[in-house]
Amino acid sequence: MRILVIGGAGYIGSHVVHALLNKGHSVCVFDNMSTGRTENLFPQADFIQGDILDKSALNQALKNCDAVIHLAAKKAVGESMANPEKYAENNITGTLNVLNAMAANDVHHFVFSSSAAVYGMPDVSVIDESCPVNPINFYGFTKLEIERFLDWYDRLKGISFVSLRYFNAVGYDASGAVRGLEQNPQNLLPVIMEVATGVRPELSIFGNDYPTPDGTCIRDYIHVTDLASAHVLAIEHLASGKESQKLNLATGSGHSVLEMLQATERIIGRTLPHRFAPRRPGDPAILIANADKATAVLGWHPQHSDLENIIKTTWAVYQK
Ligand code: UD1
Repeated sequence: MRILVIGGAGYIGSHVVHALLNKGHSVCVFDNMSTGRTENLFPQADFIQGDILDKSALNQALKNCDAVIHLAAKKAVGESMANPEKYAENNITGTLNVLNAMAANDVHHFVFSSSAAVYGMPDVSVIDESCPVNPINFYGFTKLEIERFLDWYDRLKGISFVSLRYFNAVGYDASGAVRGLEQNPQNLLPVIMEVATGVRPELSIFGNDYPTPDGTCIRDYIHVTDLASAHVLAIEHLASGKESQKLNLATGSGHSVLEMLQATERIIGRTLPHRFAPRRPGDPAILIANADKATAVLGWHPQHSDLENIIKTTWAVYQK
C-alpha cells in the first residue's frame, strides 16, 4: 500500500514510518517541519514539505495514495489553554482539510492520532473506551471534535478510520533508527533526560499532594515502538474492509512521576536534581487505561513498554 504519513518527521510519526517501511509499505511523509526533524526522515520514504493548512499541497500529496496516517498536531496541553486559536486552526481546520482532500481524491482509509486527553478526569481507576469522554483542556477537545467528524465522514463520505487514543508516548526505537530529539520538550521523560544531559538544571515535579501512594501523578507510559505497530495493524485492518474503531493504546498499569525519576537515576547511575513545584493546571491524578479492545480488534499487544526498556532506549538516544 501507498501511505501518506502526515507528521511523519515527528517523534511518533518517524517511528510509524519506520514500522511501515519494515512491513514493506510504500510511504510518503508530509510534514511542515515546524517540529519535525530532518534526521527523522528515512531515505526509503518520499518526502513532501507541506502544511495541512495548504489545501492544494494536500491535494497534490494525496494523488495515488491508498491511506492516510495523520499525526500532525499541536500537542502542548498548557499552550492549548492559552492559545486555543492556534489549536483550533492546526488540529481542527487542518484535519478537516485532510479529510476533505481525501474525499476529493478517493482515499478512504484514515488512521488518526487521538489522545487520552479525550477522557478528561475519569472517575474510574482503569479507562476503557466505554468511559464518557469529557476533555478538560482545549487540546483534548480538538482531538474529540475530530473523532466526532470522523463518525460523520465515515457515514457520508465512506472514509473508514481507526482513531488511536494514545496514553503517554515514551521511548525510542531500540535499533537507533530514530535519532531526532524534540525541541524544548514539555513531557516528563524528555524533560528528565534534559536534566540528565545538563540541558536543564533541574526537574520540577508538578505536585506531590495527589491522592496517589507517593503523592505524584500516575500515567500509563506506552513505548513508541508499540504505538507504531498499532498503526501498521490499523492500516491492515482498514485495508481488509473492516469497520471504523476508536481504540485506547496503553499498557493497563502506571508509574508515578517519582518512579520515572528514580528509575532513570538507577539506570544512568546518578541522582538528578529536582524540586517539588505547584500542581500543573489540568493534570488528572491517575490516568491508566485498558487496551483490551485494541488487542481484540487489531491483535495488538504492547511488547516494548516495560519501564527499563522505555528509559534505556530513551537514554541511549539522549546520551548521543
Ligand atoms: C498530556 C496529555 C496527553 C497528551 C500529552 C501530549 C492530558 C491529561 N494528557 O499528557 O493526552 O498526549 O500531554 O503532550 O491532557 N510532569 C512534571 N514535570 C515536568 C513535566 C511533567 O512533574 O516537567 C508531570 C506532569 O504533571 C504529569 C506527568 O509528569 O503528571 C506526565 O506529564 P506529561 O509528560 O506532560 O504528559 P501528560 O500531561 O500526562
